Formats: sequence, C-alpha cells, structure tokens
Amino acid sequence: MTGAPRKIVEVLEGKTVSPPPIWLMRQAGRYLPEYRETRAKAGGFLDLCYSPELAVEVTLQPIRRYGFDAAILFSDILVIPDALKRNVRFVEGEGPRMDPIDEGAIRLLNGDGVLDHLAPVIETVRRLRRELPEETALLGFCGAPWTVATYMIAGRGTPDQAPARLFAYRFPQAFEQLLSLLAEISAEYLIEQIDAGADAVQIFDSWAGVLGEREFEAYAVKPVARMIEIVRNRRPQAKVIAFAKGAGMNLKDYRRKTGADAIGLDWSVPLSFAAELQKDGPVQGNLDPMRVVAGGVSLTEGVDAILQALGNGPLIFNLGHGITPEADPAHVAELVERVRGMRP
Ligand code: CP3
Repeated sequence: MTGAPRKIVEVLEGKTVSPPPIWLMRQAGRYLPEYRETRAKAGGFLDLCYSPELAVEVTLQPIRRYGFDAAILFSDILVIPDALKRNVRFVEGEGPRMDPIDEGAIRLLNGDGVLDHLAPVIETVRRLRRELPEETALLGFCGAPWTVATYMIAGRGTPDQAPARLFAYRFPQAFEQLLSLLAEISAEYLIEQIDAGADAVQIFDSWAGVLGEREFEAYAVKPVARMIEIVRNRRPQAKVIAFAKGAGMNLKDYRRKTGADAIGLDWSVPLSFAAELQKDGPVQGNLDPMRVVAGGVSLTEGVDAILQALGNGPLIFNLGHGITPEADPAHVAELVERVRGMRP
C-alpha cells in the first residue's frame, strides 16, 4: 500500500482515531434496494456467494452509498458446512437449512477439497482489493467453530441452540472433534483471505451467549484461540477481530485468552464495562440495530452515548449485531454523518 494506513488498521494497532472509523455488520443486505435487485438476479443465496462478479458488486454497494471505512467480503459463515458437503440451502423466509450431523457423520468428516470449493470466495477478495478505494479497508471473515457447529448439529437456526448444547453434553468427544476440524479449516480459510488482500478478519461467534461458563471456555474461547494461533504462526502481522455475541461477563478475559486484536461488543454490553475492556485494547460496536430502524433521537442518542463513552480510545464504530432488513437506508446515512461529526 502506498498511501496513508487505513483507519481501521490503525485502530487495530491500538491507536485512537477521531472520529472513529465505521462499518456495519451485514452492511450489504436486504435493507438496500440495489442488494435486493442483484440478489434476485443471482438466483439462490449461495449462488450469490460463489459468483465473484455479483459478490463484488454487492460488497461495493454500501461503500458507494455511504463511504464506510471498511468493506466486508460478501459471503456467509455457512459456506464452510457447504464445503463440507452438508447440503446447505437457504429457504426463502425460513433461513438456512442443512443435513443435521450426528456422531457417525462427524467421524467421517474431513477437510479434503474445502479450500477448492471456496476458491470463488477467495477470488472475490482478490477482485475487491483491486476495485476498492485505496483508503477503504477490506475485511474477511468466517464463523467461529461453536456458532458454525450449532447450525451443523441442528441443521437449522434455533432460538437457543439447545440441540448443539445437548449434543455437546451427550457426545463430548465427537463434539470436540467437530470443533477442532472447524477450527483448522477455518484458520486455513482466513489465511487465504488475508493472502488475497484482506486487511483484517472477523470471527463471528454469534451464539456465544447461550454457553455456560465452562462451556464458553471450552467451546468459544479455546477453538477461537487455536484459530488465531494458527493464523498468527503463519501470518504474524494478521489482524483479527473476535465477536462473541451475548458473552456478557465472559468478555472480561476474552481478548487475552483468544489473542484477538479487537473484540466486538453487542448492544447489551454496558458502556461502562465496554470502557473497561477498551483499556486493554480496541473495541468494536455496539449500537442496537433497532435504533437504526427507529431513527430520530433513538439513533442520535445511541450514537452520542457510544462516542462519549468510547470515542477517546481505540474504537471501531459498528452496530451490536447485523443491520436488519427493516432499516431505512436514510437512517444509515444519518448514522454515518453523526459518527463523523458532520451532523449536529
Ligand atoms: O456483513 C456483511 O455484509 C457480509 C455478509 C454476511 C452475510 N452473513 C450475508 C447474509 C456475513 C458477515 C454473514 C455472517 C453470518 N451468517 C452470521 C454471523 C453474523 C450474524 O448475523 O450473527 C450468521 C449466523 C450467518 C448465518 C445466516 N446467513 C443466517 C442465520 C441467515 C438467515 C437469516 C437472515 O438474516 O436472513 C443468513 C442469510 C444471509 N447472510 C443474508 C445475508 C445478506 C440474507 C439472505 C438473503 O439475502 O436472502
């Protein structure tokens, strides 16, 4: 890179950047009319993920509209089970489905051919780095082993991931084997994303919040720490954001135990606790996505509270979880302007 360092990378190095850089989880998505149009052209959701041309297009859409400080690769965490031949499909209006995995099928799982299957996603990363503005950071991502495993076991999304929690108690060995395999494969996948041009990668542990204390340690911390160790052994400069949604008090030692550069915070994390966590390094978050749906003072008050509590330290402004389809694109423009101090 020739120009100034990208702002998000500066924050990931521990610097305070003011105003803080901003991107939004799920920033490419159904709230944008241009996304819905491209999505309709693509056919299935996975077809969109595996078409570098269309995936580049939808990744760039929110950058064109809002000039976010980072683009996030358009893909999904469930491309890993898809690459593991679990028959992943996205049913309109119902969410993801796949063949539920059992003990016997876990024993037969192997990583052969996974990276070949994901080659189109890596091609998307390569093209994105060429097409993005110089100042825009590019983020890669994958799911954390626990979160990916919850979908693989239930074969679908469930409200509290009871099937995966139960499976882990009943078949601890098979479950650990599944997590280890996912950690190894996912780390290789992240390394490929970094080599193709990702400035940083985010590990999404969206279901970390349903785990008890010991299970959080074994199923959320340990596999993510292992992934980051593999990535860092091979790419010492790699920057990693770890997002353990709903982890609450378990976030206290999460950065130290996993080795993540930055930790993502959901909107339930109190700002006073967030400020404590920020003393140890960069944080990312944590506006309630419903404030973006509501707009008005709900939006501006939420933004201002975060800037006041966390704006004087290393912060990447984001939502506390993905933006929802109901969000008004005009509210997103107001959000970005407010964070950048362009709007009273
Ligand atoms: O953030 C981005 O803009 C990049 C793309 C991205 C998607 N999914 C696109 C997507 C990312 C980073 C994800 C991550 C993801 N996928 C997570 C972790 C983050 C989180 O939200 O908790 C999870 C759990 C998934 C699995 C998944 N994918 C579910 C449960 C669903 C269905 C629910 C829903 O919102 O529809 C998806 C589908 C999905 N992934 C969509 C998008 C834009 C919507 C599908 C569509 O366009 O038809």
